[in-house]
Amino acid sequence: MNSFTETLLGWYDANGRDLPWRRTRDPYAIWLSEIILQQTRIAQGQAYWERFLAAFPDVQRLAAASEDEVLRLWQGLGYYSRARNLHAAAKQIVALGRFPDDIGGIRTLKGVGDYTAAAIGSIAFGLPAAVVDGNVYRVLARHFGIGTPVGSTAAKKEFTALAQSLLPQDRPGDFNQAMMDFGALVCTPATPACLLCPLAGSCAALASGQVGTLPAKARAAAVQTRRFNYVYVRFHGRTAIRRRGPGDIWQGLYEPLVCDQRLVGDAYDGGSIPRNPLGRFAPTASDQRLVGDAYELRTGVKHQLTHRTLLVDFWLWEPDREPDLPEGYFWVEEAELDRYAKPRLFELLLESLPD
Ligand code: ADE
Repeated sequence: MNSFTETLLGWYDANGRDLPWRRTRDPYAIWLSEIILQQTRIAQGQAYWERFLAAFPDVQRLAAASEDEVLRLWQGLGYYSRARNLHAAAKQIVALGRFPDDIGGIRTLKGVGDYTAAAIGSIAFGLPAAVVDGNVYRVLARHFGIGTPVGSTAAKKEFTALAQSLLPQDRPGDFNQAMMDFGALVCTPATPACLLCPLAGSCAALASGQVGTLPAKARAAAVQTRRFNYVYVRFHGRTAIRRRGPGDIWQGLYEPLVCDQRLVGDAYDGGSIPRNPLGRFAPTASDQRLVGDAYELRTGVKHQLTHRTLLVDFWLWEPDREPDLPEGYFWVEEAELDRYAKPRLFELLLESLPD
């Protein structure tokens, strides 16, 4: 075993985090933890993992659940395609009759990419596959002084080959989780604990003063901003929602009436309250008798997505007569709204409603 690997495993044995999914060999539970931990911090993910296992103790029960049930349990974790893929993969596993136990088979599960396949394969089955993610890039780029900008295909190839060459055949799962913990606890992005680092003596970046500049980053893509309005319509104790379809964010989640800024602007009546916030949708909108008061609840609520910033105004619209609903919308009792999985933004609208 080379000295990097030996030192890292020694550090992990003494300092690795005691996480509940490290106390099981059940591939279902380990797979669930890896899907939840994609883009989610451990402190937040742990409670979800426990709730999922309590609700669905085995893959058969997860596969048999409705998509709404799964999305509701997932609510608050974001990146909802993960929940849909989780559900679809549960059905794949049930159809297969067992959890796949080689990297190729694990990789065919929906929502499982190279990283997650290597994590599950090494942790659950002891397969010799190295994980490569931001932590691994950072630790290896610093320790071995590699300046290739991360994010390119070339970088992925280079770092994967290096990680793979360091992987001990007898403890691949521990090595991978040691890299995760070491990147999270010692070799951190902004203020790494070099003074306490057991690998400091052989760290190229520390020796050359490059800890702050490695790993090298490629230029980031620009983030677009979108403005629109969320309109909570209230008519006789009911409100209108629709389920979002495929092809964009929040697939399968429910949203209130949406209209874009410019059309609301067109309907402005000179004052701050638009006469007709739904001009775009309601076929009867030109009939002013159908339009009651709309109240602006909050303006410019900022919601950050990975590649998009949303700037949203919240409205409460209480029409005098029942409005026609745009395509796809349906009425629900306000008291039953909590049965529907919602994006955080919709929850913020609900929190803004007057009591
Ligand atoms: N992040 C993703 N998978 C993880 C694991 N198994 N342990 C700690 N952090 C992780």
